[in-house]
Amino acid sequence: METITMKQAPDFVGQEVMIDAWLTNKRSSGKIAFLQLRDGTAFFQGIVLKAEVGDELFDQAKHLNQECSLKVRGIIQEDSRSELGYEVLIKDFEVIGDSQDYPITPKEHGTDFLMDHRHLWLRSSRQHAIMQIRNEIIRATYQFFNDRDFIKIDPPILTGSAPEGTTELFKTEYFDEEAYLSQSGQLYMEAAALAFGKVFSFGPTFRAEKSKTRRHLIEFWMMEPEMANYDHQASLALQEEYVAFLVRNVIDHCQLALKRLDRDIATLENYTKTPSPRIEYTDAIQLLQDNGFDDIEWGDDFGSPHETYIANHFDQPVFILNYPKTIKPFYMKINPEDPRTVLCADMIAPEGYGEIIGGSERENDYETMKANIEKFGLDLAAYQWYLDTTKYGSVPHSGFGMGLERCVAWLSGIEHIRETSPFPRLLNRLYP
Ligand code: 4AD
Ligand code: MG
Repeated sequence: METITMKQAPDFVGQEVMIDAWLTNKRSSGKIAFLQLRDGTAFFQGIVLKAEVGDELFDQAKHLNQECSLKVRGIIQEDSRSELGYEVLIKDFEVIGDSQDYPITPKEHGTDFLMDHRHLWLRSSRQHAIMQIRNEIIRATYQFFNDRDFIKIDPPILTGSAPEGTTELFKTEYFDEEAYLSQSGQLYMEAAALAFGKVFSFGPTFRAEKSKTRRHLIEFWMMEPEMANYDHQASLALQEEYVAFLVRNVIDHCQLALKRLDRDIATLENYTKTPSPRIEYTDAIQLLQDNGFDDIEWGDDFGSPHETYIANHFDQPVFILNYPKTIKPFYMKINPEDPRTVLCADMIAPEGYGEIIGGSERENDYETMKANIEKFGLDLAAYQWYLDTTKYGSVPHSGFGMGLERCVAWLSGIEHIRETSPFPRLLNRLYP
């Protein structure tokens, strides 16, 4: 007899099959028991009828423990009331691994308790939905960039450089040298773009940031494309197309997950429109000041209330363009039209999710780059190799970084970024 996954149920209606599952919950009355089952691909119920399986097995079904693992044999039936539209009429089952006193019960638990039991909390249908959306964003990302002839390049995780500033680094021993966990693969991706034209990376990055907000993780995954012969405008066009593609694919491929999370599809549809609105940094400051924000002036970086106001003003992901050079990293190219600013943009997601993309055109003049490295107090010797990108056949080039978990939180419509990572590293949380 064939062993199938729950997701395959539509192809097996009326047939007897085997399913490997876990018991998430159960209820029973005199002659019928409902087993809520999960197998990693989906959730649905198994029905046990006393008349069908006999007294002994029925009694065993009634006393099964939450989260025990089971091998189930039964007939797939349609069930219009269930999320998936199917159920299994159980003929026989066998307990594979029992589960005594499972700590996460159907009653409400506090966030700290759930985070302490993250390894088990992952089994819930809500976490399943979020991880499906995460998986779809990863899948669609590879599709998007492969379709456009980008090459995936994996930058190192142990590095000697600090592209995003020296204050947020995790230091580690590297034999008799000091090394850092990568904050961003960007500098390596720039070198790779000069080797291969269009490249992207997708991997873990680390920020020793003492931030405890709903948007910050200590370890997060970043997607970083870098394109030779792209000016900043060309990069913006690619970014908006990419984000719209992600939203489209999540809507099309994660319907059950979105429904389970109560995410409104019409709201997401609105985010598939391109081009994305753009506003200059200078105009954004003006917009805020005109609307009662007296806590910000030209030269300041935005806080989350500012970003939320600007994005909600446009009701769509919005690019804020050309920030003051003093609040951005050393590698950004000066804006020739206003040399107080650099050719960069942050894409801010609506609904309070904040910055999901940061990107820029890169400085590609040797003398300017050398002066920038010195001005930012960085060790020139450590950046000598990077300076070569401005020395040997340099071209205008641009790139950006998208935070995977911020994007997952936004498209899932969930309150806090901690649920977007299977095992999030947060301030003061290294376990589980
Ligand atoms: O704006 P950031 O710091 O930009 C860079 O690292 C550039 N080197 C990227 C590049 O141009 N190649 O980070 C990029 C994105 C942010 O927009 C945000 O989505 C995410 O990474 N991010 C974080 N996500 C979760 N937790 C944190 N602490 C994050 N810091 C940045
Ligand atoms: Mg940024």
